Amino acid sequence: MRLIWSFRSRAAVAALALSAALTVCAQPALKDAFEGVFLIGAALNEAQFTGRDTNAVALIKTHFNSVTAENVLKWQRIHPEPGVYEFELADKFVEFGVQNGMVIIGHTLVWHHQTPRWVFRNEDGSQVDRDTLLARMREHIHTVVGRYKGRIKGWDVVNEALDEDGRLRQTPWLRIIGDDYIAKAFEFAHEADPEAELYYNDFSLENKPKRDGAVALIKRLKAQGIPITGVGLQGHYTLNWPSKKQLAETIRAFSELGLKVMITELDVDVLPRADAHRGADLMVRYQHDPKLNPYTAGLPDSVQRKLAKRYADIFDVLVRHSDAVTRVTFWGVTDRDSWLNYWPMPGRTNHPLLFDRHYQPKPAFYAVLTSAEKAKKSANKTR
Ligand code: G3I
Repeated sequence: MRLIWSFRSRAAVAALALSAALTVCAQPALKDAFEGVFLIGAALNEAQFTGRDTNAVALIKTHFNSVTAENVLKWQRIHPEPGVYEFELADKFVEFGVQNGMVIIGHTLVWHHQTPRWVFRNEDGSQVDRDTLLARMREHIHTVVGRYKGRIKGWDVVNEALDEDGRLRQTPWLRIIGDDYIAKAFEFAHEADPEAELYYNDFSLENKPKRDGAVALIKRLKAQGIPITGVGLQGHYTLNWPSKKQLAETIRAFSELGLKVMITELDVDVLPRADAHRGADLMVRYQHDPKLNPYTAGLPDSVQRKLAKRYADIFDVLVRHSDAVTRVTFWGVTDRDSWLNYWPMPGRTNHPLLFDRHYQPKPAFYAVLTSAEKAKKSANKTR
């Protein structure tokens, strides 16, 4: 009996792999469709860049020309204790990108999440002073950016430093160092790799109060001569938010400052939310509620169509602003990998990406390809 089951499950896995392989061959590649428009990226997890998830690797090699580390370059993962750096996985991630000729993005250097407590504490548990924290930040940035100099093309230097009202978020970085911690992080990153592109990355910048705060922050940085190349709009969207107008205005607001604009963590949450929160704040958490988990057996056609239309709308705005937008990175490859399966509520089945749990392209994938065709046609017309 056991033998039969194991044969059956192996046959099922083989069938899945075969159908994934056939799909990969049969589809036009996203990165080719958007060639000359913008880069198409994906955030990778460990199973993908180590080659364990072979079906995902096939999709990544076919469709994407840029990769971001979803987690392995975060402070907690790479520098868990004073003087201890764990580079093994980060090295594998970078090697994957190099081997496949992809544009590699480093995420992230200074963030209030995933930073171990020791960073802000003395050995006796008291809080460190400004100079100590600046020295730790500089040492971390120099070590990590320096190691991948010339291979990681751009860094999310500071992540999520703003509150929804546009003011600086109260974090240990701000409290201990002061307002200039952001400028310092960019200076240290520039010292470590003068050729690297340096980005400010955040979610919900499409909402005006937060966007205005970011514009003011970037103006201040630029006035001081701080080397900032671009702004990452994370792009954790829903079926209804942000509007096309909000997205277009946001891209323009940053490109008018002379910055490159990137969508750095794109996904579209299709599940009902427990509250009005529209961002990606990891502090927002709820207990599992089956009522808010309606699509465990798959996404109904009606919602699948809404998702496809939503992606078409988003990409229509992005291609219209392709003079400013240099890269669009999805936060994951298939629905099975997405963080939205466990945030803001654990144990849900979300469907936010272009490829489903069986590595198959969804209608949203074809909607995005259609946007690429439109972009090419209008580029030809204006030539
Ligand atoms: O806890 C979950 C568990 O419930 C789940 O079943 C399991 C599935 O693999 O994973 C779990 O562990 C999580 C881990 O990464 C998984 O890889 C951790 O709890 C969690 O803290 C960690 O989450 C990451 C999070 O950042 C915090 O670092 C997510 O994967 C990652 O997608 C997310 O990425 C952030 C960006 O860095 C910044 N912008 C927002 C974005 C989404 O939160």
